[in-house]
Amino acid sequence: MTDPGSGSTALRSSYLGRLTAADVGRTLRLAGWVHRRRDLGGLLFLDLRDRSGLLQVSVGPDWTDETSLAAADALGNEDVVAVEGVVELRPDPNPELATGEVELRATCVERLNPAETPAIPVYRGPEDELPSEELRLRHRVLDLRRPELQENLVLRHRLILAVRNYMDRIGFVEVETPILTKPTPEGARDFVVPSSVHPGEFFALPQSPQIYKQILMVAGFDRYFQIARCFRDEALRADRQLEFTQIDVEASFVGVDDILHWMEGLMAELADVAGASAPVPFPRMTWDESMDRFGSDRPDLRWDLEISDWTTALGAIDFRVTQSAVAAGGRIRGFRFPGGARLSRKQIEAVEVSAKAAGAPGLLWAKRSEDGGSGPLSRFLDEAEWEALGAEVGDLFLVAAGDDGVTSPALDAVRAAAIQALDLPRAREDAWLWVTDFPVFEADGDGGLAPNHHPFVQPHDDALELLDGDPLAARGDAYDLVYNGTELGSGSIRIHDAALQRRIFRLLGLSDDEIEMKFGFLLTALAAGAPPHGGVAFGMDRIVQRFAGVSSLRDVIAFPKTTAARALFEGAPVRLGAAELDALGLALTARPDPDPDPESR
Ligand code: AMO
Repeated sequence: MTDPGSGSTALRSSYLGRLTAADVGRTLRLAGWVHRRRDLGGLLFLDLRDRSGLLQVSVGPDWTDETSLAAADALGNEDVVAVEGVVELRPDPNPELATGEVELRATCVERLNPAETPAIPVYRGPEDELPSEELRLRHRVLDLRRPELQENLVLRHRLILAVRNYMDRIGFVEVETPILTKPTPEGARDFVVPSSVHPGEFFALPQSPQIYKQILMVAGFDRYFQIARCFRDEALRADRQLEFTQIDVEASFVGVDDILHWMEGLMAELADVAGASAPVPFPRMTWDESMDRFGSDRPDLRWDLEISDWTTALGAIDFRVTQSAVAAGGRIRGFRFPGGARLSRKQIEAVEVSAKAAGAPGLLWAKRSEDGGSGPLSRFLDEAEWEALGAEVGDLFLVAAGDDGVTSPALDAVRAAAIQALDLPRAREDAWLWVTDFPVFEADGDGGLAPNHHPFVQPHDDALELLDGDPLAARGDAYDLVYNGTELGSGSIRIHDAALQRRIFRLLGLSDDEIEMKFGFLLTALAAGAPPHGGVAFGMDRIVQRFAGVSSLRDVIAFPKTTAARALFEGAPVRLGAAELDALGLALTARPDPDPDPESR
């Protein structure tokens, strides 16, 4: 019988990394990869590696048989070997290594399988840097041998297990929903899959199980969850993957507090598993307050820095930019940085670049000095204004004037850039926050409406009457969990009334035919006796990333895509040949580049 804890199997008696002084004297058969070899002329030390760690194996003419000596001599890094021998105390213990007190004196060494010279080294000395990420992704099989990545994936496994145990304990049932499905509206492009049985027809891969989980509520599964794979064909950023995993949750007869409370329990449990902390309950802030104070719906509250509203203080200055902003109904808002005057003009201009990248026409600034002030805004400030700003010598003011819709994202970007430029100390290491009561809609840029989350969010009771007259003012029961400025999860109470759902679809500009075609199955379900329900979904990858404390999402995913949306190790996506396209009834209208640069793949 094998013992999963010790790693004993038909081909080995133990994991390498489990051996301690208590094992001295045992004769064992061990196996693993050659991590490193050191040849001391006559005496050979092999560091063998497996998932559990490293063990030193010593090979020498006094205790190793002749054939094995020759076999050991031929070994290269990453060869797979089996060794047999006795566990002994090391004359030179290595306190850095878990097994550093002992070594295996090998009587017998056998190469089970040779490895080609590794394209990237698995062994790294203390001074050696990691190869580039591109190279590591290309050679993922070797990169995945790194203990850091192995630990991340084991942590991922433990966290997923903890999710399942916790959700089961509070009465939730895991139900799998289809991967071949119909488009789901989460705001990205769908990956589509052609059907060869029905030429010209396509399945979509789910962007989330959103509609299915709602239908499960109507079917009476009043507490559902799923560790769900989701697929979104969207521009990749550092915190996004084309395919990712959600902890997807839905429950019936619930209010916002139920969901938030359950999920706080989940986060606390996951933190526990990871040996981290998640101080629950998390603070809550409405979307309106968050936008007003931080310019963002996912503020990074490790810093307390808040936006000030200086519309009254500066509304009367003789400056065309601020005057026209206020005349058009906008506000004058910004940040005061005590001691910030130490930033050079060049550094301030770099902060302005981030404001412009976030859509602002420009950034106004002023420094307060002994003899008055400097910076483009300071010319318009006299003593009364400086006083109204609460200015002290050495202060820097960064100001944006205009409509909140433009200045909020700009000030959010200014906040992040200035925190970095000034190297402001954090008020706290970890900042968790629920942002609640999101707008139901946002402007789609073409004079129409788009859903702020997705079209299923239940508007507040008092927002129902705004839907026709002032829909952008309508707020709903939607919430996000934000950790250090990253959105970890998002959810809402859903519309369970078919008529209201139809009305929302119409407000979003869908014709009745489109509603029927895209969402007929949901409306049919809602009309079949839908209970009030709501839920949430967390990004599992982002949660593992947070608890593993790594900066890249790709470091917690076994086979991630690059930011150029490619799988480098296996080489995907690929082109289909004419015959394959033909079998699917497909023809390409855009001719692909005839000579693709293989290096860019
Ligand atoms: P949403 O689209 O906000 O909501 O997604 C929920 C959470 O999933 C994670 N996430 C991603 N992680 C990695 N790569 C991506 N491309 C990616 N996109 C999203 C984020 C995000 O907070 N159906 C709704 C949830 C609901 O209302 O219940 C949904 O999918 O952490």
